[in-house]
Amino acid sequence: MFTNKNVLVIVTGSIAAYKATTLVRLLVKNDAQVRVGMTKSAQEFITSRTLAILSGHEVLTDLFNAPESAVVHMDWAKWADIILVVPATANIIGKIANGIADDAVTATIMASAADKVIAPAMNDHMLNNLAVSRNIKQLQTDGWLVIEPETGFLAEGYDAKGRLPEPETILSQTDVRLRSRSGKLQGKKVVITAGGTREAIDPVRYLTNRSSGKMGYALARAAAEHGAHVTLITTINRETIFGVHQIMVKSAQEMYDVSMSEFEDADYFIAAAAVADFKPTAELVHKIKKQADSTLTLNLVQNPDILKAIGQSKKAGQRVVGFAAETQHIIQSGQEKLVSKSADMLVANDVSRQDAGFSSDNNAVTILTRDERAQTLAKASKIAIAREIIERMITLN
Ligand SMILES: Cc1cc2nc3c(=O)[nH]c(=O)nc-3n(C[C@H](O)[C@H](O)[C@H](O)COP(=O)(O)O)c2cc1C
Repeated sequence: MFTNKNVLVIVTGSIAAYKATTLVRLLVKNDAQVRVGMTKSAQEFITSRTLAILSGHEVLTDLFNAPESAVVHMDWAKWADIILVVPATANIIGKIANGIADDAVTATIMASAADKVIAPAMNDHMLNNLAVSRNIKQLQTDGWLVIEPETGFLAEGYDAKGRLPEPETILSQTDVRLRSRSGKLQGKKVVITAGGTREAIDPVRYLTNRSSGKMGYALARAAAEHGAHVTLITTINRETIFGVHQIMVKSAQEMYDVSMSEFEDADYFIAAAAVADFKPTAELVHKIKKQADSTLTLNLVQNPDILKAIGQSKKAGQRVVGFAAETQHIIQSGQEKLVSKSADMLVANDVSRQDAGFSSDNNAVTILTRDERAQTLAKASKIAIAREIIERMITLN
């Protein structure tokens, strides 16, 4: 992920500073060249020795008593391809946003043209402070990737927003951001559906299917890597991806309503959700009770066909990609579906396979297009398959 990249990690005086050790280890594992800078306060939380050992390099802590050169901040600023400020205190956010460079790390940041990522971590009251909110917005305007703090258990002993996301999440978001710079979908809107819909029977029960939403999320990530504005309409909340706006829905009807309105100004639509074909005729107000009779009959009606409706509402320039989960005659059924749904591309996958498809981290698919050129992608990770699908989608004309 970060092969041959020079990554400068800046650690500041937050209680979450200990997570920087995992971040540095992960970067080293991903083949990055890593150096670390620490504020004075950060060294109250973890030692520079720990980070020096993990990064394999002396840590920058002092502007006027630096390890290597008289102008260390200029040298390190030039060396870095990426600067990650993790965790970032309210204080450092304020300093960077306002152009203050009064120590080794802020002087280095100011002198550097590297890609810059910052992960705020603080108590919710600090995070909601008007000056902090203003400074975070300023950093976004200045081109920083700001990693959104998570809601969770804070050091103060209660649940609120302000927690530092796990290092894996920070690196994954950074990766998408870096890839998106040279993407072919800059300025394009891609709408993707994901997950299995839930069709309510009564207040506690619903009908659903085995879809995990993994393929939809992988497609969202692959489109975001190309710089697209992605709207992900999903029944499952798997992860936050930089550049992806999530809209949570439950039923097929809700997914249909949101899809139709989001598609209006979209360039691409990818129907990766497993939408229930049928739903109960009515959602019961009260829970169904056990009855003496051991059988229960549910009456079902058909749901709206999202892919078909999107295909029929397509305007000039809009492109539609469908998914077909098949268990037999995959290519033939796929071709028929491509035409009947007015889609431009159809991704057919064999869900009868145990080693790929539903819930699995892998997939194996056949891509069908109107020119009848079928392209089979051998079994690979869902993100690898998603990247191929997006590449092919970009070539649709
Ligand atoms: C125990 C403790 C925990 C702290 N945790 C945070 C924190 O999570 N986020 C934050 O913005 N400030 C936190 N602070 C306050 C900062 O350490 C303080 O504002 C400091 O001046 C930051 O310096 P720096 O930005 O140069 O690292 C904490 C302070 C203490 C004593």
